[in-house]
Amino acid sequence: MIVAHSLADFAVARSHLDAAGPRRVAFVATMGALHAGHRELIRLARAAGEAVVVSIFVNPLQFGPGEDYARYPRPLEDDVAVCEAEGVDLVLVPTVAELYPAGRQVTVHAGAMGAILEGRSRPGHFDGVLTVVAKLFHVVRPQLAYFGQKDAQQLAVIQRMVTDLNMDVEVIGAPTVREPDGLALSSRNVFLSTADRALATSLSTALRRAAAADSVPAARVAANEVLDRVQFEPDFELDYAVLVHPATFAEVPDGHTGPVRMLVAAKVSGTRLIDNALLELP
Ligand code: PAJ
Repeated sequence: MIVAHSLADFAVARSHLDAAGPRRVAFVATMGALHAGHRELIRLARAAGEAVVVSIFVNPLQFGPGEDYARYPRPLEDDVAVCEAEGVDLVLVPTVAELYPAGRQVTVHAGAMGAILEGRSRPGHFDGVLTVVAKLFHVVRPQLAYFGQKDAQQLAVIQRMVTDLNMDVEVIGAPTVREPDGLALSSRNVFLSTADRALATSLSTALRRAAAADSVPAARVAANEVLDRVQFEPDFELDYAVLVHPATFAEVPDGHTGPVRMLVAAKVSGTRLIDNALLELP
């Protein structure tokens, strides 16, 4: 496995991948602090691609002022060991200075879908995500790219970018990996105390209850029964709990049937957590 800390080193290693004839390169973009969710993406990439590239880069462009960019965990040695154990071929660990050189001006704008929900609470977030993902696609030149459904809106805006900007990459969504108690794995879970964990788990519990409902209002009621129990806790701050159309992310009306995605977001002791589930309403 090669770990490239500069774009020049990466370019050399990447060209070696193609030296014995073109290979299907499968790519997993991450911000590091790798957990079982990331490992699952890497395994899917490994199963589908002939070579696997992982990037590790805490992208300053997608963090707003006052967010957790500075304290975001960066256990690089452990992350490299995880990549090695998962059979990754090439790891890209670029520097901020090289990826965002002085004088840069051009960015990708996520459009309307990037301005709602996560985008409303984190202005500019999806522009930052799309800009770095577009850059990484250009550097890595993958045929396949794996992203988690845990960040469903992120996956949707990336798919939109690939379509709208004619990028020659197949984007594949991967299922959310969870703790035994249902909490979706996240690099931010390390910030949670034991008491926070109990509050955080209410998000996935609410989704699980909603998934058993048979209508939009019933799903809302089922989720709210769980969320109402924690909403007056001082360390729990619900941002949204909504049912949306899986493709457009527009909120669905009460009489809607078929697939809907329920999205939840909350801050637990200042740590922002998101989760979602696909519901099939008869
Ligand atoms: P990061 O949060 O490190 O996540 C990297 C990838 O892992 C994303 O596609 C994310 O959806 C996926 N992932 C995270 N938790 C998961 C879980 N519990 N189960 C399955 N997949 C999970 O998302 C980002 O980084 C960044 O925004 C990035 C796309 C790298 C751009 O900077």
